[in-house]
Amino acid sequence: GAIGPEPFMKSAEAVPVIPVVGLTTDPKLWVCFYQGTWVLATLVPGIVSIQRNFAPRRGDVVLASIPKSGTTWLKALAFATMARAAHPPADNPGHPLLRLNPHQCVPYMERMFAAGDEAVMDTLPSPRLMSTHLHHSILPTSITNNPDCKIIYICRDPKDMLVSFWHFVRRVNADISFSDVFEAACNGTSVSGPIWDHLLGYWNASKASPETVLFLRYEEMLRDPAGNARKLARFVGQPFSPAEEEAGVVDQIVRLCSIDKLKSVEVNKGGSGTAGTHFANDWYFRKGGAGDWANHMTPDMARRLDAIVEEKLSGSGLSF
Ligand code: A3P
Repeated sequence: GAIGPEPFMKSAEAVPVIPVVGLTTDPKLWVCFYQGTWVLATLVPGIVSIQRNFAPRRGDVVLASIPKSGTTWLKALAFATMARAAHPPADNPGHPLLRLNPHQCVPYMERMFAAGDEAVMDTLPSPRLMSTHLHHSILPTSITNNPDCKIIYICRDPKDMLVSFWHFVRRVNADISFSDVFEAACNGTSVSGPIWDHLLGYWNASKASPETVLFLRYEEMLRDPAGNARKLARFVGQPFSPAEEEAGVVDQIVRLCSIDKLKSVEVNKGGSGTAGTHFANDWYFRKGGAGDWANHMTPDMARRLDAIVEEKLSGSGLSF
């Protein structure tokens, strides 16, 4: 039987950190409008290739998010949970998450396909674990209309997500102001925007098909990480057994995946990108809390974005 996902990168080989050309301010962010969604222009060939060529496999689990919603955390938790038979989370110095960045354990589909590395996906043992930032509406039906393929979505208060995004892109281009990022988000043109459509696509899918789409919230995970890890484990068909509960496996996984633990791992301190991107591993771990938006937005800005999001989500049952 399957023992769970394996890292798709075996070593912490670094790529040089170089600025991503064109990531400047909006309309300045080099995003383009593709099938109703704003995506990084460099990834469009990869997206087209996913839509044409993605070969699903029974048991596939796709982690979906808007960037800066807690993707890294979800990757770590899902990986540690699904791989726990092969890689016990406690007292295991050889655990992949102590050697590799979470993004080296779970491939980012758009980038793999854009780089022509989709063959790597075929070599992964089942069940495979992979990630995407695409809107639900533009994923291939081999994922969205497939009872054997599950999706786990993570979302976050858009205000905190934007603050996190700004801190991240500033590392790429120091000229980007918070207000540029903010205006793009309000206009719907930020990366993975419109934010509300991204949220609603997965929200509605989770309502229509809760057995294939799990909808998680970053703030809920902060409040109750163990409860959310149990939810995730049940969802992927690997619930924690009474013996595992007794042994404290859930808390071991939560601790292993905590931001403080991951920050302390050597590979995650690095100033160079090892996850096949030009983003340095330490960029993915900043504060990891809720409410940092208050340090970057005026009350008026917060009210404005909240009002837009509330209006767009109205009637859906989803709110922030
Ligand atoms: P902040 O910038 O607000 O601190 P993503 O993984 O989607 O790129 O999102 C990055 C955000 O998640 C950052 O938020 C980062 O600090 C936070 N994060 C990363 N690892 C985390 C973890 N293990 N637990 C909680 N938050 C984490």
